[in-house]
Amino acid sequence: MEKNFKRTLVTTALPYANGPVHIGHLAGVYVPADIYTRYLRLRGEDVIMVGGSDEHGVPITIKAKAEGVTPQDIVDRYHNIIKDSFEEFGISFDVYSRTTSAIHKETASEFFRRLYDKGEFVEKTSMQLYDEEANQFLADRYVTGECPHCHNERAYGDQCEACGTSLNATDLINPKSAITGNTPVLKETRHWYLPLDKWENNLRNWILEGHKEWKTNVYGQCKSWLDMGLQPRAVSRDLDWGVQVPVEGADGKVLYVWFDAPIGYISNTKELLPDSWQRYWKDPESRIINFIGKDNIVFHCIVFPAMLSAYGDNYQLPDNVPANEFLNLEGDKISTSRNWAVWLHEYLRDMPGKQDVLRYVLTANAPETKDNDFTWRDFQARNNNELVAILGNFVNRAIVLTHKYFGGRVPAAGTRQTADTDVLKELSEIKVSLSENLDTFHFREALKDAMNIARLGNKYLQETEPWKLAKTDMGRVATILNTALQICANIAIAFEPFLPFMSAKLCRMLGLENLRWDILGTDGIMAADVTLQPAELLFEKIEDETIQAQIDRLERTKEENKINSFKATPQAPDVEFDTFMKADLRVGTVLECKKVPKADKLLQFLIDDGLEKRTIVSGIAKYYAPEDLVGKQVCFIANLAPRKLKGVVSQGMILSAENADGSLVVIGPTAPVVPGAQVK
Ligand code: MF3
Ligand code: ZN
Repeated sequence: MEKNFKRTLVTTALPYANGPVHIGHLAGVYVPADIYTRYLRLRGEDVIMVGGSDEHGVPITIKAKAEGVTPQDIVDRYHNIIKDSFEEFGISFDVYSRTTSAIHKETASEFFRRLYDKGEFVEKTSMQLYDEEANQFLADRYVTGECPHCHNERAYGDQCEACGTSLNATDLINPKSAITGNTPVLKETRHWYLPLDKWENNLRNWILEGHKEWKTNVYGQCKSWLDMGLQPRAVSRDLDWGVQVPVEGADGKVLYVWFDAPIGYISNTKELLPDSWQRYWKDPESRIINFIGKDNIVFHCIVFPAMLSAYGDNYQLPDNVPANEFLNLEGDKISTSRNWAVWLHEYLRDMPGKQDVLRYVLTANAPETKDNDFTWRDFQARNNNELVAILGNFVNRAIVLTHKYFGGRVPAAGTRQTADTDVLKELSEIKVSLSENLDTFHFREALKDAMNIARLGNKYLQETEPWKLAKTDMGRVATILNTALQICANIAIAFEPFLPFMSAKLCRMLGLENLRWDILGTDGIMAADVTLQPAELLFEKIEDETIQAQIDRLERTKEENKINSFKATPQAPDVEFDTFMKADLRVGTVLECKKVPKADKLLQFLIDDGLEKRTIVSGIAKYYAPEDLVGKQVCFIANLAPRKLKGVVSQGMILSAENADGSLVVIGPTAPVVPGAQVK
């Protein structure tokens, strides 16, 4: 840290309350923010962490319509689920509020009004898309259509998710209303715009000159936005869900969700500290850190800073915005609508008591510099090979040996030998690296440092082998176990930001209270003669069945998605009746059916067609066992010119229907008919 700060405000992106939160949210924003905040608390710094649910915006109203409930019902439901999930995972918010709270509406409304009174907005009339049947303007996600850049046909009115470009609804090619499916018309409407161009130079200096230390992904995105040149941005919408625009004659207009949401950081702070909140926002000796995902960078680094600058009154801009990239799941992009996610409330149900395991895996794999992948196999491996085999194992050995040789009382150390002093020196070196990594938001590296303490402990016990000295040199055993227990205590401190539940459990075993960062790296944490609690396992092995159940769940989701996303192919061009009649379609009875040798797709049929027995070859071997079809009646084309397939001449073709997943189902009559019956 170059500057000295008196206090820190940690903010976390407000999750939309239109669904529960998943591992991507946790990995990208909440776990890193929590690690950082817990670390500062251990250092005794003045820090608060604020968050809340983002409860406005179009997707919430669309979901409410689809379910026939009010938007308030939707946000009440998800706000509670989200809040509980965060609590269960130990995300240690000082306040977790919501943007439908009275204090937020008041704060956001006042913010807009001040900018309006100061003349910071430009008022403009423009033509916007309007659904004449629904009698409604179609903002943002209320319109879908073709992206003008990448030609994805399912782009939204505010953004194309395929190419990531942010759009205006009127940019879409062939727009359709998400409410009625109708093609919208253009209708005139009036809105307020924040002229970002006015702030462009300030922002350029502030970021590109003043914050070269920001993460390269963040700095790079800002630079490319600034280089393209900033445009005025509409900050209001024609909607009935949101914070009312506090201006005469603005009925039916609300603040754009991205205008009110970041103000939520201010209202949350106010809610927490009604009398002293301003210290965190307006004192130049305070600093603000925004934890967000990469899709939020422009709003936090460009739009909100412009809003704060326009407001004036000493509002400080963020000191850092350590945005993360995205976490994928088993190789695919996490998606709420496709249910491709590990939902936190479901994880808690399926893996009770394993919050720290997920926190560990998500930090070890955090998408800090590039998109990363979460897989259940990696989750299992990290638990079994790292948490159980390294961390849990070391702590367990140290405590069990102390019980065995000293009745659970911490032995006093005698004169330390080189093995001991070396280990203590390494410990203090790890602390330096760990602190530096935490200070600079390199949490993956920081976690590796913490893990190195446990590795160090294992190596130390392996080398000193106290169990071999018990008969001959109990003085030496005492020194070794004292040192090992000091390492355990170091683990309790170093891991508190990462794995708070494990740390608390370890503290109970060791009888430690009031952890502090300044004693980390030392051998003076465990006092001699303190009695330890019995050793309890910190982590348990996760079995293959548990992991397989999760993988199976995702497989089922994949299958369901295939079926849900199935779209019938467009109808083929018309044919004349006579043309159709040229095909001789018949029903026949299957007399025999067998696999065609050396052709894994083909089945060979012998069919009674009413005149004779004919052979037909069909590519359905993957979907039927031959014996299952014997005796069944099937529909076939009788007059298809004979063809040779893998050495067998096929006299016709059996008809099948192709399912969404490509599987084939044979077509036959719904009641028995005479063999040779014509199909017409
Ligand atoms: N709800 C937004 C999202 O999930 C984040 C809002 S962050 C805030 O992408 F700053 F606007 F609050
Ligand atoms: Zn696109």
